[in-house]
Amino acid sequence: MNPLFKKPVYVSKPLLPPLKDYFNRLQSIWDSEWLTNNGEQHQEFEKRLADYLEVPYVSLFSNGTTALTVAYKSLHLTGEVITTPFTFPATPYSLSWIGLKPVFCDIDLKTMNIDANRIESLITKETSAILGVHVFGVPCEVKKIESIAKKYNLKVIYDAAHAFGVKVNGKPIGSFGDISMMSLHATKLFHTAEGGALLFKSEESKKRADLIKNFGIETEDLVSEVGINGKMSELQAALGLTVLEQVKGELKRRETLTKVYRNLLRGIKGIEFIEEIEGVQLNHQYFPIRINEKVFGRSRDYVYSKLRENNVYARRYFYPLCSNFPFYKKSDSSRSELKAAETVSEQTLILPLYGELTEKDIDMICNIIIREKNGAN
Ligand SMILES: Cc1ncc(COP(=O)(O)O)c(C=O)c1O
Repeated sequence: MNPLFKKPVYVSKPLLPPLKDYFNRLQSIWDSEWLTNNGEQHQEFEKRLADYLEVPYVSLFSNGTTALTVAYKSLHLTGEVITTPFTFPATPYSLSWIGLKPVFCDIDLKTMNIDANRIESLITKETSAILGVHVFGVPCEVKKIESIAKKYNLKVIYDAAHAFGVKVNGKPIGSFGDISMMSLHATKLFHTAEGGALLFKSEESKKRADLIKNFGIETEDLVSEVGINGKMSELQAALGLTVLEQVKGELKRRETLTKVYRNLLRGIKGIEFIEEIEGVQLNHQYFPIRINEKVFGRSRDYVYSKLRENNVYARRYFYPLCSNFPFYKKSDSSRSELKAAETVSEQTLILPLYGELTEKDIDMICNIIIREKNGAN
């Protein structure tokens, strides 16, 4: 059988700025002979990113996973942290690596984020924080989470890996919780190849994270705590500065393409997707759909394999569910019922979405899916 697409179409494609722009910045790095440790590119990028994201303070990291662990350490978290199982493994791993216990809470079927109504029942005397993930760029119930945290004196951290540029009622996503983390991995809307950032409200919090990510070295004479190497290099920061110039255009293109997907798939029984949300400015990081086999007539995995036969590499994020990883399944991290998360994990498929895709590409992708439904009847 001839695949519909001649070349593989992946879920994302890294946003690549004109090479000469990057080269100009590389030239400055070469001239300065300074490759890492808070150089000129790093300082400029930190400021420009804080401006773009409309947050007072940013700290740059070599990747998002390290940034998360540093956030927990800087907030002195202990014991248990309540989080979602419907996420990338880095979310619970970043806790486990520093001896914190993830406690999985079920999710909301509609937003696919941690269900704020279920958080309180999981709080014990060991709980020190709530770790929400704005999955696929859809914001968590930030107000409800804030009030629970206040009532029980818990910290709130947001894994905003997918939420670059998202706003809730005009407020930037990084303004919620004690600390938010953005992943700047190549698969993200905005990236530095590998990279991450923590977003803070206070200078003091930033200073603490900056200290921990640089081995806990305060001065040449004083090393005040156990730190780690989480620093972003000049090469990554320079890439970030050049990609930042392109991101608004990319966002616009993704917005248009998202509308094309929605128009083609709206009304197909058994397929659901995220529509506009009142008061929320989305970033179109992904285009996830949910396939209800009973209604659609074909399973998510069947559609996934048909797309693959046609060179379309849709992804089953997030499957398997983190709570089903053998080491978490047999621990009391998975102590509560996670029915909604199980369902969503079995139904979700991420379709390709990036600025270089054409409307015709999307039409062809949707045709493969719709044809399967018709075939099933
Ligand atoms: C939800 C989520 N959290 C954390 C991460 C980890 O980020 P990084 O790959 O930058 O370490 C990712 C990964 O890409 C992610 O999707």
